[in-house]
Amino acid sequence: MTPNLIPESSNPEFIGREGAFAELHTKIRQGAKVIVIQAPGGVGKTTLAQEF
Ligand SMILES: Nc1ncnc2c1ncn2[C@@H]1O[C@H](COP(=O)(O)OP(=O)(O)O)[C@@H](O)[C@H]1O
Ligand SMILES: [Mg+2]
Repeated sequence: MTPNLIPESSNPEFIGREGAFAELHTKIRQGAKVIVIQAPGGVGKTTLAQEF
């Protein structure tokens, strides 16, 4: 079976979010076509999606 490594950001200004990256990876691997990222303003939703 091909390795299915969790992607990580190569941007040194992008801090943390390993758990969120793993969750997004899992959802996509499960076939998700639409993913809702829901959190208060300013916590990093847009940045997370762009980096992923
Ligand atoms: N993982 C991160 N590491 C460093 N800075 C971040 C990270 N996530 C967000 N930021 C910074 O925090 C601010 C708000 O992020 P943003 O993605 O616009 O939030 P949201 O979309 O949830 O309102 C931006 O200036 C962004 O560059
Ligand atoms: Mg946003």
